[in-house]
Amino acid sequence: MDINRIQNLKNQAISNILEAKSEEELEHLRVHYIGRKGEITELIKKLPSLEGENRKEIGILLNDAKRAIGETLQQAQGKLQITQEPLDKEWLDITTPGKKPSHGHLHLITDAIREISEIFEKIGFTRVAYPEVEWDWYAFEGLNMPKNHPARDEWETFFIQGLSSKKYGEAVLTPHTSSGQLREMEKTKPPIRMLNIAKCYRRQAGVSHAPMFYQFETLVVDRGINIAHLKGTLDYFARQYFGPNRKTRIRPFHFQFTEPSFEVDVTCIVCGGKGCRVCKQGWLELGGAGMVHPQVLKNGEIDPEKYTGFASGFGLERVLMMKYGIDDIRLLFSGDLRFLKQF
Ligand code: PHE
Repeated sequence: MDINRIQNLKNQAISNILEAKSEEELEHLRVHYIGRKGEITELIKKLPSLEGENRKEIGILLNDAKRAIGETLQQAQGKLQITQEPLDKEWLDITTPGKKPSHGHLHLITDAIREISEIFEKIGFTRVAYPEVEWDWYAFEGLNMPKNHPARDEWETFFIQGLSSKKYGEAVLTPHTSSGQLREMEKTKPPIRMLNIAKCYRRQAGVSHAPMFYQFETLVVDRGINIAHLKGTLDYFARQYFGPNRKTRIRPFHFQFTEPSFEVDVTCIVCGGKGCRVCKQGWLELGGAGMVHPQVLKNGEIDPEKYTGFASGFGLERVLMMKYGIDDIRLLFSGDLRFLKQF
């Protein structure tokens, strides 16, 4: 048996297959070369009768030719099917809804920060940012809370070891956004309309207290600012953030840096003010507020004879939890998707 003949046969078969134009033609070629009585098949049948050395070589060659022809046939068939598939058989319903890729969203604290900023920006407040690691002066002393004053106890403060300034005292992690008041007065001459939203830190932990949390602080200083401006601003905020029917009330309280001082309540989100399990006789506490103490204005180099001001400071998570009825602050910092996906 001639090796060259086998090679030629194989090449011829392959080129015939590649030129075939129809499935019938391909079938014909299959039968002709590797069918039961095909040319290659017949040669394979003769193998056992071959003598000598090149029986093995020829066997390998024939089998390889058979395999190559078979594969080429298959590929050619596939190509014919694709090109011959009539276009009208292909069908696509473009009105079928597609698969939606899953979307993430902003954390609800980030959302609240943005929402609250927008609410205050609409009435002329400017958002500011001041240091998170702050001097004692700005956090306490300059706000009428000298060293060892008992009022400081309320702010369970973290102190930074080994960092202090002769002029401003020790370094602390800001325990409240009120430390931004003096910073703002140093930077901006009246009129001041400041919104300070920032991280605050206190040694506390529980369902309604976290060691790191956010506060948002307003400070307004101008000629003739009075309690009516404070109350109007608080009412505006409550309506914008909680809904049109909310009212606020202010109750007498005490802070060293405001005089008079108040605690601010909002009508209960659950019962609308009638009184229920969640609230104190229809009211929920929002945070602290008051008229800026004259000494604080002086510390900020503003003349209290000419100017007056008001300030308020609320817990951001607190108002957010009230709005959505969340009863554990730790959920906000847990990163638990089962919780976060609900918002
Ligand atoms: N800084 C006070 C607190 O953390 C709240 C407050 C802000 C009170 C502004 C009066 C004026 O409790």
